[in-house]
Amino acid sequence: MSASNVTTVPVALRAFGYDVLVGKGASGELAGLLARRVPAARQVAVVTDEAVAAAPWFAGIDPGIPFTVHTVEAGERAKTLANVGALCRAFSRAGLARSDAVVAVGGGVVSDLAGFVAACYHRGTPYCTVATSLLCQVDAAIGGKTGVDLPEGKNLVGAFWQPSGVICDTALLETMPAREWASGRGEMAKYAFLGEPDLPLLGLEVQVARCVARKAAVVSADERDTGERVLLNYGHTLAHALEAACLEVGGDLRHGEAVAVGLVYAALLARRLGRIEDDRVAFHREVLARFGLSGRFPSGLAGVDKERLLSYMARDKKAAHDLAFVLDGPRGVELVREVAPEAVLAALEELACT
Ligand SMILES: NC(=O)c1ccc[n+]([C@@H]2O[C@H](COP(=O)([O-])OP(=O)(O)OC[C@H]3O[C@@H](n4cnc5c(N)ncnc54)[C@H](O)[C@@H]3O)[C@@H](O)[C@H]2O)c1
Ligand SMILES: [Zn+2]
Repeated sequence: MSASNVTTVPVALRAFGYDVLVGKGASGELAGLLARRVPAARQVAVVTDEAVAAAPWFAGIDPGIPFTVHTVEAGERAKTLANVGALCRAFSRAGLARSDAVVAVGGGVVSDLAGFVAACYHRGTPYCTVATSLLCQVDAAIGGKTGVDLPEGKNLVGAFWQPSGVICDTALLETMPAREWASGRGEMAKYAFLGEPDLPLLGLEVQVARCVARKAAVVSADERDTGERVLLNYGHTLAHALEAACLEVGGDLRHGEAVAVGLVYAALLARRLGRIEDDRVAFHREVLARFGLSGRFPSGLAGVDKERLLSYMARDKKAAHDLAFVLDGPRGVELVREVAPEAVLAALEELACT
């Protein structure tokens, strides 16, 4: 595949920026990216998961210099401190130096985990991500938030550690399970309300590039997540509550599926608060429908007490301890603090009934 199919989206940061390469065949640029951005590297530690390692294209991922492959279990359960320790020990046994590089090849789980290991190993080793899931390409791989989960909660231990480069090769998505497509589209849908209303109508490569550029712009303006970056959490306050409730009942809900529901909920809540009209709620549903998502309240959680969801939303760390939501309105999407619990509950009832 020629380089002309690849779009370069720069991420500008205070200290140094990096490029995100988007397009079919972009993973063929990995060796060049490493040579340019981590020229001192003499070897690479590739971190991946079992499902990704089994994909037919995996053997073609070439860092261009000697490398070892370190495989973790697939799915969220790989994001543990135990795996951080195991990977650091394996890197050490492989003789990986601080001037070498880590390459994450996988979805958001692998990029969060490997990025965090890179942040810790030798007090900071360069890393690049080859994002292989849609969710990772449009969100997780960009922005330098890395970390792992604790039994007490998701993403509780982590670091800001920016990659030296990111590759979003849309050809690699062809082996992704249908459910992961839906989850990635749920995450993608939020960008339609963050300045990309035509997103559902575009081709996949352009969609990914647009989402990356949106995320890059927000990350550049708020590298450490103290302001504007909260907008990327559109639809996420309920989504996080649904994910937490799902963990409690042993259910199965993908992150982007929860975000799709959270987007409909955010629209219903905004209407209830007089911030938007019916047509805007309809636009939310239309965007989701175009992405093949219903945004309906998950049937497996129908029995969960709404007060319980409310308490999760009040605890959402990004809500800074009050009931705060990112909501649509006349000025576009913005953070709204101190939302009345009655409105939050009423909108939940409304969501559950539709
Ligand atoms: N750091 C951030 O800014 C950020 C943002 C959003 C989400 N996240 C994190 O991302 C994670 C979710 O990411 P995800 O949805 O990519 O999950 P994931 O990494 O678990 O990938 C989903 C599943 O798809 C498989 N897979 C991935 N690519 C594949 C491919 N091309 N072919 C076949 N199978 C493939 C994986 O093995 C896995 O089983 C969560 O842990 C979340 O916290 C981080
Ligand atoms: Zn998300």
